[in-house]
Amino acid sequence: MTRSTLTVDVFLTAAQLRSALEDDVRHGLTTRPKSIPPLWFYDENGSRLFEDITRLPEYYPTRAERRMLIEHAGEIARLAEADTLVELGAGACDKTRLLLDAMRSSGPLNRYIPFDVSDEFLREAAAGLLDEYEGLSVHAVVGDFRQHLNQVPVDGRRLVAFLGGTIGNLVPLDRQRFLFDLNCTMGQQDHLLLGVDLVKDRDTIVAAYDDSAGVTAAFNRNVLSVINNELGANFDPDAFDHVALWNEDDRWIEMRLRSTSDQEVRVAELDLDVRFEKGEDLLTEISAKFDPTQLENELLGSDFVVDAMWGADDGEFLLALAHPYC
Ligand code: SAH
Ligand code: AVI
Repeated sequence: MTRSTLTVDVFLTAAQLRSALEDDVRHGLTTRPKSIPPLWFYDENGSRLFEDITRLPEYYPTRAERRMLIEHAGEIARLAEADTLVELGAGACDKTRLLLDAMRSSGPLNRYIPFDVSDEFLREAAAGLLDEYEGLSVHAVVGDFRQHLNQVPVDGRRLVAFLGGTIGNLVPLDRQRFLFDLNCTMGQQDHLLLGVDLVKDRDTIVAAYDDSAGVTAAFNRNVLSVINNELGANFDPDAFDHVALWNEDDRWIEMRLRSTSDQEVRVAELDLDVRFEKGEDLLTEISAKFDPTQLENELLGSDFVVDAMWGADDGEFLLALAHPYC
């Protein structure tokens, strides 16, 4: 029996992460409208809350994507002919197993490279795969996919999966830059598997981001706890309402935290005092929804050629397989 192995590369140390948070908080809380990038949701508690979200009756994207992977992973593996799976924003590495199983059935499966910003959570999730996949080399990478794509190992024939609709958490300009940067790191035989959520009726989308059990609200407010814990701030998370708004023009959900009173918050370690007026919002996330033509155009605009799409006709969710145009 060949043992599986785990190695971990860290390109974002605790000190670098803290310095990035300092920059984002100083900038985001002193400009109007106030905002904070969504990667700060994902400390260990936030990563667990996201896992709880994926099991909510209202949050359809994870279930829809899993169903599609159950149905199409075999075809994806045959088309990609990859021996290495890279997964960006891997999280709990859960749907991953469907791809790993399909790749193992259709050819040699050598390596899995999960990439995520959430260090401890990633280590735990990656370690959980070792007993299940004999002989698999698991090479976890801790980094920010907006900065560290060029640190992902390039050997082997790779399928790079970016699932869950996480690309929709980037604003269009960052999305384009991300896809272009990713393209530059990919070889001619590599493939990209991208999962995006599709535009659908407003009520279904809003309910997915404003569930009745309040789990998404807790996930949203968790970013305030992260700032409290890391930077000695004194946010009272209960003094902010969770808001999920559908922005029809931009076709994205906006998650916001709305101040329930006039209040002042101190971020001690930045020596920063921030005033919030009653009703003022802190934008914490956008989650863009796509249509198939738009996604194809965005991929083409970043020099990717689409090989196949699943879910484009009346689907809830879309999977696209593409390769770099050379
Ligand atoms: N792919 C999983 C998890 C999605 S949640 C799924 O489909 O269920 C989004 C994941 O992306 C989280 O694990 C989060 O830690 C990670 N993430 C968010 N922003 C990131 C960034 N800038 N760089 C690296 N990982 C990031
Ligand atoms: C990770 N990402 C794709 C999720 C989404 O749906 O945009 C994050 C999330 N935010 C609220 N619920 C889930």
